[in-house]
Amino acid sequence: MDSLEANKAIAAVLTAGIAFMVAGLIGETLVREQRPAQSAIKVATAAAPEAAAPAAPAAPAAVPIATLLASADPAAGKATAQKLCAVCHTFDEGGKAGIGPNLYGVVGGPHAHMAGFNYSDGMKAKAGPWTFDELNEWLTKPSAYVPGTRMAFAGISSDKDRANVIDYLHTLAASPEPLPAPPK
Ligand code: HEC
Repeated sequence: MDSLEANKAIAAVLTAGIAFMVAGLIGETLVREQRPAQSAIKVATAAAPEAAAPAAPAAPAAVPIATLLASADPAAGKATAQKLCAVCHTFDEGGKAGIGPNLYGVVGGPHAHMAGFNYSDGMKAKAGPWTFDELNEWLTKPSAYVPGTRMAFAGISSDKDRANVIDYLHTLAASPEPLPAPPK
């Protein structure tokens, strides 16, 4: 290759390089990468990890448990509890603990209400009695209400099923707590 040929070759390479860069710059100016503000696919909150997008719009206001309880059905709740909870819990007075504590008298009782049961630290740290509101929050998503809970249960996403179960739990007492008055 004589020197003229070599120069031509070098020039060709340079030209190609410059053309490539310019094309890149133009391309970048014309096509700005745009990300949607929110995901097009809505992930069910029960499955969403703790690190949900901070910009996500607030969840729609939850229906108050008092409203849900006004039309709840404890018999249906018992059936649901047998299906979802009985693998770990007993419900009869004086019933033994399973993987979870016995639930007789839990409504209105203190958190970690069963003597001798090995509760998580998070549950033991919860002050005050189990109110209807708190049970509603707990059964919506146990891991959110008591981080580090030992109750390996995702929660009941259906308002109706959850209210039925809470209505049933409240019957498990010698003198059941009165149901909360529905808001006017
Ligand atoms: C896989 C086993 C398991 C299932 C299923 C389960 N639980 Fe539990 N539950 C537990 C454990 C374990 C605890 C103790 C949690 C802790 O210490 O953090 C608990 C605690 C509770 C408590 C608090 C009791 C107290 O004494 O403070 C309530 C109320 C409760 N469960 C209700 C339910 C209901 C209602 C269902 C069904 C919808 C259910 N659980 C399903 C294992 C389970």
